[in-house]
Amino acid sequence: MKVLHVAAEIFPLVKTGGLADVVGALPQALIAQGADVRLLLPGLPAIADVVLHQKTVCEIGPAFGAARATLRLGRMPHSDVPAYVIDAPYLFRRAGSPYQASDGGEWPDNAQRFALLGWVAAHLAAGELDTGWVPDVLHAHDWHAAMACAYVAAHPPTVAATVFTVHNLAFQGLFPPGDFHLLGLPSRFMASQGLEFHGQLSFMKAGLKFADRITTVSPTYATEIATHEFGCGLDGVIRGRATALTGILNGVDGVVWNPQTDPGLPARYGRDDLAGKAVCKQALRQELGLQANAAAPLFAVVSRLTSQKGLDLVLAALPALLARGAQLALQGSGEPALEAAFTKAAQLNPGRIAVRIGYDEAWAHRLIAGADAMLVPSRFEPCGLTQLYALRYGTMPVVRRVGGLADTVVDATDDAVRRDVATGFVFEGATPAALQAAIDRAVSGFAQPPVWRQLMKRAMAQDFSWEGSAREYGQLYSKLADAKRMA
Ligand code: ADP
Ligand code: GLC
Repeated sequence: MKVLHVAAEIFPLVKTGGLADVVGALPQALIAQGADVRLLLPGLPAIADVVLHQKTVCEIGPAFGAARATLRLGRMPHSDVPAYVIDAPYLFRRAGSPYQASDGGEWPDNAQRFALLGWVAAHLAAGELDTGWVPDVLHAHDWHAAMACAYVAAHPPTVAATVFTVHNLAFQGLFPPGDFHLLGLPSRFMASQGLEFHGQLSFMKAGLKFADRITTVSPTYATEIATHEFGCGLDGVIRGRATALTGILNGVDGVVWNPQTDPGLPARYGRDDLAGKAVCKQALRQELGLQANAAAPLFAVVSRLTSQKGLDLVLAALPALLARGAQLALQGSGEPALEAAFTKAAQLNPGRIAVRIGYDEAWAHRLIAGADAMLVPSRFEPCGLTQLYALRYGTMPVVRRVGGLADTVVDATDDAVRRDVATGFVFEGATPAALQAAIDRAVSGFAQPPVWRQLMKRAMAQDFSWEGSAREYGQLYSKLADAKRMA
């Protein structure tokens, strides 16, 4: 089974969120199960300069406003996964975020940039760019790669089946309708049955309308996005594709996230030897200037600071958290108002709240390892990876019952604790009071060391490895490829 994964970011080269973690790990898990997987990535500097052993596959020539585009094939550093790179300097050789200029605004030519990514994917799938390797399945991730599905649909002889994974429906790749002429698609594609979305051009719709199968990153999110509340205006489109949609939970890269081997931690630890976790907590407190108070549970947040993540609820719950004697360590970046509010909270509560504005992988590991509990009060959460990392590191997740959070954390009710199945604290409403009540329960649990230790051990025993998820994707690919061949 030959599978081409198409995405705009990949850990550890380019990462703005969990998408990169998934694209870094899932192909490796599929390869371990025998699939022949390649990646297709845009030639952003952090990719084009770092992918190893690149050889030219073909010159594509002028495309989407770039005077030249060259397709190269190399291998990912560390994982050795084969990766096609689109070297189109005019469109991709830019410092900073893959999506935004340094002033925070979207790159004005994102329609061309990500149309090129989809266009190259579709032509690889049609066997036109690399005759030596033609995929059976083209798997596109999020709106950045979604145009691949429209280009394949525009070219019926293509044998490859298409899978589109929605990692986050809130980011849709919307462009002015006038950009449609840049795409080189027949005019029938600019209709409500195609890419048109309330008068605009939607790349997300290219995936939702034209992929043979749609997946999203948790079973609960798969049902949520078919509703008005979570559908971001696309719930009708999604309901129309109900039979093509499934939810497959993300996994954890067990090499990158493993407290027993993590090279960035001051001490390593495992389920049967938790002493190292106490060392991590002490070191973290020292590093962040937090008081060394054995009775104080340390809550952590590692997150993009956006309204999705519900961190305004954390701000509102802070007085109660402090009143219960707990501490907070937050690391994140995003909306300036949230950055400022958390920075101020830390200034007003030295020794009890520590805030680091910024994005740093090594910090994230130290924080997750050193904390007792992790707050993820999201308004919506397609899967969520930080709660999975927290589980592996014995850091109790405190999460809202939504999306992938609902699918991965078992609430510590009295009954669940008695049956030894509890792995965290789950609350319902997106309100400060609901979060506060969950924090209260976590603080009470922390005050009972035998209970807390049981929760930690049960959390660390959870198996969210990629193996199971990769198997589900593998089955989906096989069914799809068979159906395509029979058609
Ligand atoms: P999302 O993709 O919506 O941001 P996920 O939980 O799926 O949420 O993934 C977030 C990923 O980004 C995790 O790997 C998390 O550790 C990482 N991350 C988020 N914020 C930061 C930060 N400030 N520094 C380092 N890593 C971060
Ligand atoms: C998105 C979602 C997050 C998910 C990640 C990887 O960024 O917000 O919930 O875990 O994609 O699929």
